[in-house]
Amino acid sequence: MADQAPEACFRLIYSSHLRIPAHERKAQLGAIFSTARSNNTKQGVTGALLVWHDSVVQALEGDEAVVRELYETIRKDPRHERLTILEESPDAERAFGRWSMARVSDDEDEPDIPLLMNRDKGGISPAAPRPTTPAQDEVVSTMRGYARAAAPA
Ligand SMILES: Cc1cc2nc3c(=O)[nH]c(=O)nc-3n(C[C@H](O)[C@H](O)[C@H](O)COP(=O)(O)O)c2cc1C
Repeated sequence: MADQAPEACFRLIYSSHLRIPAHERKAQLGAIFSTARSNNTKQGVTGALLVWHDSVVQALEGDEAVVRELYETIRKDPRHERLTILEESPDAERAFGRWSMARVSDDEDEPDIPLLMNRDKGGISPAAPRPTTPAQDEVVSTMRGYARAAAPA
C-alpha cells in the first residue's frame, strides 16, 4: 500500500484495558496482530496498536463505515475491556499507509515503532529501526499521551 501521497480517511482512536494474563500475553498479542494484519489488509484498514503495561491505545484508519464496523467487532473482544473512544477524525490524513497494524511498544518483540515512552522529548531516537513520517509521529505521540494518562500513578 502506498504511503507517499496524503490520502484522506476516517481515523478512530480508542483506549482499552487488557484482560490477558501475563503468561498468555505474548502469544495472544501475536495472535491479535496476525488477525488484525490479515483482516485489515483485506478491508483497506491501516493503523497502529500501542500496548503499554495493561493499557491499549489503537488507531484505526480507513473508510468510515468499515472502521466503525471493525471497532464494533473489537469492542466485543473479551481480551480487553473499558473501551473508550478518544478521537474520531472524519478527514484525517492516512498516517499508517504502510502498516495494516503497526506495533508500537517497548517490548523485545521488534516493534514497528518503538514506544520511547521516556525518551520522546526530542522526537525520533537515532536508534529507531525505521524512520517514521511526521504524520505518524504526530499520531503516535498523541497515542503515547493517552497511554501515559491511563497508566497508574
Ligand atoms: C486490542 C485489540 C485490537 C484488535 N485489533 C484488530 C484489528 O485491527 N483488526 C481486526 O480484524 N481484529 C482486531 N482485533 C481482533 C478482533 O477483536 C476479532 O477477534 C477479530 O477481528 C476476529 O477476526 P476473525 O473473525 O477473522 O477471527 C483486535 C483485538 C484486540 C483485543
